[in-house]
Amino acid sequence: MNTATPSSVPTDLSPGHVTVTPSILYFGTPVVLLSTENENGSFNLAPMSSAWALGHVIVLGLGAEGQTAHNLRSRRDLVVNLPGPAQWPAVERLAPLTGRTPVPASKRGSFRFEPDKFAAAGLRPQPSERVRPPRVAECPMQLEARVAQARPDSSGDFLIVEARVLRVHADPRIVVSGSQHIDPAAWSPLIYNFRHYYGLGPELGHSFRSRTA
Ligand SMILES: Cc1cc2nc3c(=O)[nH]c(=O)nc-3n(C[C@H](O)[C@H](O)[C@H](O)COP(=O)(O)O)c2cc1C
Repeated sequence: MNTATPSSVPTDLSPGHVTVTPSILYFGTPVVLLSTENENGSFNLAPMSSAWALGHVIVLGLGAEGQTAHNLRSRRDLVVNLPGPAQWPAVERLAPLTGRTPVPASKRGSFRFEPDKFAAAGLRPQPSERVRPPRVAECPMQLEARVAQARPDSSGDFLIVEARVLRVHADPRIVVSGSQHIDPAAWSPLIYNFRHYYGLGPELGHSFRSRTA
């Protein structure tokens, strides 16, 4: 087991770097759970972490063969649900599942088809207000959104989706009282760090643009 803690990694006086060839480059991004609508009107739920915000557009990188990519090519509504660190076991229950049948060749052997991923994960669907797929009740932040653009990436293996956020729902405990701001001291994303789950450590400081300092 690797017992190194982040604080034990020297950031000064490094002896240099080595060249490595990691199998993946998941350098630590928040986990989101995407709810989308299947062709038969049921709903799919999938964990992903290649997600980031450009203003009120969320950019998503999705495996082209998955059910989520399949759904978003034809049905543009989705919910970007943000779990907190406590929800990592539910996220990991979803990890070996796909809503796609037959299971794509690249996933055969390690993934299985599951038509009801909410039940499989032990998560509760909560009706959305602006889109058809439900929210995940347990997630402290939920972004109802609609695809504005979806295109293949340069390799053809992924679908790059731009989704415009239509409504933001937040657990009141993560909102600065009497304001429209998410409280960074109360909210913590679940971070996917080289296929391991982490929460945030203590605050180090804040940007000069912060409105919650
Ligand atoms: C924490 C976590 C993060 C993931 N990140 C991504 C991602 O960013 N993009 C992606 O396409 N798949 C990602 N996956 C894999 C998908 O969840 C997996 O391919 C799943 O089968 C997709 O489900 P679907 O076929 O029902 O859409 C991630 C899985 C986990 C557990």
